[in-house]
Amino acid sequence: MAENTPSWWKTGTCYQIWPASYKDSNDDGIGDIPGVISTLDYIKELGIDIIWLSPMYDSPQKDYGYDISDYQAIYPPFGTMDDMDELIKQTHARGMRLILDLVINHTSDQHKWFQESKQSRTNPKAEWYIWRDARMVNGERHPPNNWRAIFGGSAWEWVEERQQYYLHIFAKEQPDLNWELEEVRLAIYKEAIEFWLDRGVDGFRVDTCNLYSKDVSFPNADVVLLEEQYQPAFKHFENGPRMHEWLQEKRRLCLSKYGDILMVGECPGSDRETVLSYVSAARNELSCVLDFDVVDLGTNRTSGGKKHHSYRHQLPEFKLALAKTQDLIRTTDAWGTVFLENHDQGRSISRFATDTPQYREAASKMLALCICALTGTLFVYQGQEIGMYNHSADWTIDDMRDIDSINAYNDVKHRYGDDPVWNKKAMRGIATVGRDNARLPVQWSGEAPNAGFTPSPDAKPWIRVHDDYKNVNVADQLGRKDSPLRFWQRMLKVRSQYRDLMILGDFELHDLYEQDTFTFIKKPKGAGAGAATGQELLVVCNFSERENPVDVPARLRDRKKELLVSSLGEEAAGKYLRPWEGRVYLFEEK
Ligand code: NOJ
Repeated sequence: MAENTPSWWKTGTCYQIWPASYKDSNDDGIGDIPGVISTLDYIKELGIDIIWLSPMYDSPQKDYGYDISDYQAIYPPFGTMDDMDELIKQTHARGMRLILDLVINHTSDQHKWFQESKQSRTNPKAEWYIWRDARMVNGERHPPNNWRAIFGGSAWEWVEERQQYYLHIFAKEQPDLNWELEEVRLAIYKEAIEFWLDRGVDGFRVDTCNLYSKDVSFPNADVVLLEEQYQPAFKHFENGPRMHEWLQEKRRLCLSKYGDILMVGECPGSDRETVLSYVSAARNELSCVLDFDVVDLGTNRTSGGKKHHSYRHQLPEFKLALAKTQDLIRTTDAWGTVFLENHDQGRSISRFATDTPQYREAASKMLALCICALTGTLFVYQGQEIGMYNHSADWTIDDMRDIDSINAYNDVKHRYGDDPVWNKKAMRGIATVGRDNARLPVQWSGEAPNAGFTPSPDAKPWIRVHDDYKNVNVADQLGRKDSPLRFWQRMLKVRSQYRDLMILGDFELHDLYEQDTFTFIKKPKGAGAGAATGQELLVVCNFSERENPVDVPARLRDRKKELLVSSLGEEAAGKYLRPWEGRVYLFEEK
């Protein structure tokens, strides 16, 4: 049966803000916390309950804030600690909650802990990071094993002072903390977690939360990239043997003091059983996770997929990826999330629907309808609500800022030289799945040349503004009833209104193998397979530019049917779905 009072973090919709690209208040070309505060009414109006602020901590910005040099200080261009306190206060004053990014698998190499650790093999923090001796082959020094860092190259970096390598799963400026040491874990709990919960934040999005525990025998990874020295090693550093012990310890020693907070873990590369082991309510390690099945479609991530090898998935794969979480929630005591975008992904309409001018807005509204009807905590990423889409493949590498995209480009260049066709291929991959797609300034208005991202048009944004800001921007969409933004506002209301079916209900996939449409049913929780009692929803989404029939399951055909929402307007909704149209029907007993 539906729960009577589900936690706030189950029924709430979360809006992710990536501060550098959200809103600049002082014309330095970089978004900031006062900029966020100035838009809180906009966010509330959208129908948001929770804000997730991506890292705003002090950082050299090698990985744009995911390389933290001080957990208790703010990156100066983003503002001050007073600004953060004000943000917490103002968010709460509007009845919303605020969660922060918790990046504790690694720090920046500029963090004082690492600066000390690298000095010698005997200093008090000598073991706070993961240090290993070189492997000598024919008198030559090599890294301890063949692991490839997620951003490319070896996962080990040499340090002269210690005559040792340290491990970095991401960039070399992001050394991995040694979670095996209790002292390290206790310092993390206190400095990175309790400090912020004491200041009033409501929880965390936990960065790469399944990477803390590694296979400490550090075996070589299997060779899958035949021509390369360093190999993807995910299975040796994801979901390692001590993960549960540490997550339970964190809950016991630290989080349990703070009541019902949200801990939503980023959980790449994890199958259903692994996810369940983290989020089962009985274990209470994490509230829910952001797993990668949907956003990894077409990327071959775990086999070291190169961006220029990314491809368009088939619609049934998309359905199955979403169904993984839906089925987990339906069949276990676990909770889950729904999302199509974040700061690490290409834009959803470009990847999962279409960004061709004729259908772009329709596609954006159809995707909104689709995910608003799914069970779990819904996450919306800045700009998704206006249908921001990927940048053109004609942009050049000089327009890119993301280390991952720049390394991917250089990797192609390293192997194929200046060949323009290879370079173009590299840029096409980046334009499809590159992270800068999500990091272009939010388009607040059609004002040239910065789309209202900076107060004055003379300021220079830190990253290029999307070419199409005149057609895709907040100001225009607020003024148009049929805009994606207005539709998002409406759908988030419908989602709350039909909470027991949309947010908390059971999902049943109706048309797995259909290549054009995605049809599913939402029923009251626990209704079981087959005929359900009371109200049910039928959600039909046309993922094509062809007309398509509405496929009503036989058992619903003699029930009373009402068209609740059409993403293209109920009035003109005929027998067939229009191109890229989504609909929600309500079925009841006659
Ligand atoms: C996952 C974050 O989402 C991504 O942006 C970052 O680069 C890595 N973790 C490393 O922190």
